[in-house]
Amino acid sequence: MDKATIRQSMRNRRKLLESKEKDTLDQCIAKHLFAAPWMNDCKTMMIYLSSAEEINTDPIIEHAWAKGIQVAVPKTFRDQQGNRFMEAFRITRIDEVTNGAFGIREPKQCDAMHHIDPSVIDVIITPGLAFTRKGDRLGYGGGYYDRYLTQIGEKTVVIGVAYPFQVVEQLPTTAFDHPVDFLLTPEGLLACSLKFR
Ligand SMILES: Nc1ncnc2c1ncn2[C@@H]1O[C@H](COP(=O)(O)OP(=O)(O)O)[C@@H](O)[C@H]1O
Ligand SMILES: [Mg+2]
Repeated sequence: MDKATIRQSMRNRRKLLESKEKDTLDQCIAKHLFAAPWMNDCKTMMIYLSSAEEINTDPIIEHAWAKGIQVAVPKTFRDQQGNRFMEAFRITRIDEVTNGAFGIREPKQCDAMHHIDPSVIDVIITPGLAFTRKGDRLGYGGGYYDRYLTQIGEKTVVIGVAYPFQVVEQLPTTAFDHPVDFLLTPEGLLACSLKFR
């Protein structure tokens, strides 16, 4: 199956989740993340701001703040050539966000003061439509995370979050596709790469 077909089928499947069941799964995901021992060393986390159908990241963000972790969230841009890219900005309260294009929440303050350099991020939580146990990731088709992740440091832990049905046997990939180090699902945290084992 090609990427577009898998994306559509995962979007359809995600719509079938009832809100109560979804809440339970989302809380479970947050719990598993903070149970990881290396989360105690996390000082800065970058995490996406979820839309209604995505795994809700608000509980993770709130928990991170409670633990004194600095939280950065992405905003997308286009350069003069029309190339799309993403940058991360610090937020300290959940109301420091606003609705951007397509109703996607983004940080309000996007100045140099709030900018977080990719090299200082300890943990990145990436969204996705499907993943494999090896860490292959299928995003929404913009390639934003593939481009962003080329700039991270060697010690940055990249995590993909997924509902169980989003973990598949195989995915089509290209050389640009950046894998994740861990898969975080309601069932637990699974190491994909040898890097952090
Ligand atoms: N590092 C990169 N440099 C240039 N183009 C890239 C890079 N990473 C991804 N792309 C391009 O972005 C587009 C979308 O990538 P794709 O992997 O299909 O999306 P997604 O990762 O969102 O699922 C592709 O045309 C891909 O070649
Ligand atoms: Mg990709």
